[in-house]
Amino acid sequence: MAATMTSKRLLLSDLVSSDKIDQVPSNYIRPLSQRPNLQDVFHDDHSIPLIDLHHLHGPNRAHVVQQIGLACRDFGFFQVKNHGVPESTITNMMNIAREFFTLPEEERLKSYSDDPTKTTRLSTSFNIRTEKVANWRDFLRLHCYPLQDYIHEWPTNPEAFRDHVAEYCRSARGLALQLVEAISESLGLDKDYISRQLGRHAQHMALNYYPPCPQPDLTYGLPGHTDLNLITILLQDQVPGLQVLKDGHWVAVNPVPNTFIINIGDQIQVLSNDKYKSVLHRAVVNCDKERISIPTFYCPSPDAVIGPAPELVTDDEPCVYRNFTYGEYYAKFWNRGLATENCLDMFMTSSST
Ligand code: OGA
Ligand code: NI
Repeated sequence: MAATMTSKRLLLSDLVSSDKIDQVPSNYIRPLSQRPNLQDVFHDDHSIPLIDLHHLHGPNRAHVVQQIGLACRDFGFFQVKNHGVPESTITNMMNIAREFFTLPEEERLKSYSDDPTKTTRLSTSFNIRTEKVANWRDFLRLHCYPLQDYIHEWPTNPEAFRDHVAEYCRSARGLALQLVEAISESLGLDKDYISRQLGRHAQHMALNYYPPCPQPDLTYGLPGHTDLNLITILLQDQVPGLQVLKDGHWVAVNPVPNTFIINIGDQIQVLSNDKYKSVLHRAVVNCDKERISIPTFYCPSPDAVIGPAPELVTDDEPCVYRNFTYGEYYAKFWNRGLATENCLDMFMTSSST
């Protein structure tokens, strides 16, 4: 029917499933100089360190903390096993996400919004209000701490959605707090130092859905970016797609069952006064398989004032960033689109913006 052919689909997944497209629509195509160049990507299974958290609470804590510190300094990324999040919690989370994205379009669209300030919303690409080229992704973004402030906004279909996602959020928060302590300690700071800078704390998550793509060389699930928050805990299914920039090369991070990928966000870079770097990463898509990834973004609350830890500012290592509220940073990040230039540049002491 002509009407359905021309009607604009809000979500990529519905465009892909309704029109059986065999070419990437022009608004998703990156200019030549910005394409993923998939043939140049390194596939090295030891690309980022795998850290066993089992000993984080025993006599070998110092050793694990040191490993985390080195990973933060040299990679900005690491994987963790024996992280304490039950396998059933992870499986339920992944299954409910997959179920959500297979609900009928009209059911999913109940959560649709393209307003980035909404605390629960289903949308597509990254920020369709500001970006020039679209990304091959749909996502459901949820605020999830304090849980009781947000859970009533979440989808109720699938029926078990709120229960499974809430359970996952609580577990992921437990892990985040342990990692934040270890990172604080690894910087030579009091183990509670970073946690105390986060105001009331906050936690967001995304359920990312990347449909199969007929021409993965022309577009991205998400182009290179750094995460604006404190730390990210990424759960992904068994389909590869995440790539991390290391020494100027994109390196594929292949999924390992029952591990999480942890990365440092911009706020750790600021708090550490550049000792730890928030590293560029991206998600690419493939021809054959849909992919689901579920990042938990652990954050300061919007009123929290973030700046370099005074103990890490010395004559040799002067203060790199001015103080700001996380709310200010958050607004700037979402307004500028996913530019490769770091949002952090706007908050440097030497910056005039
Ligand atoms: C993100 C992100 C990577 C992925 O959502 O910020 O980097 O593999 N996702 O989906
Ligand atoms: Ni990211």
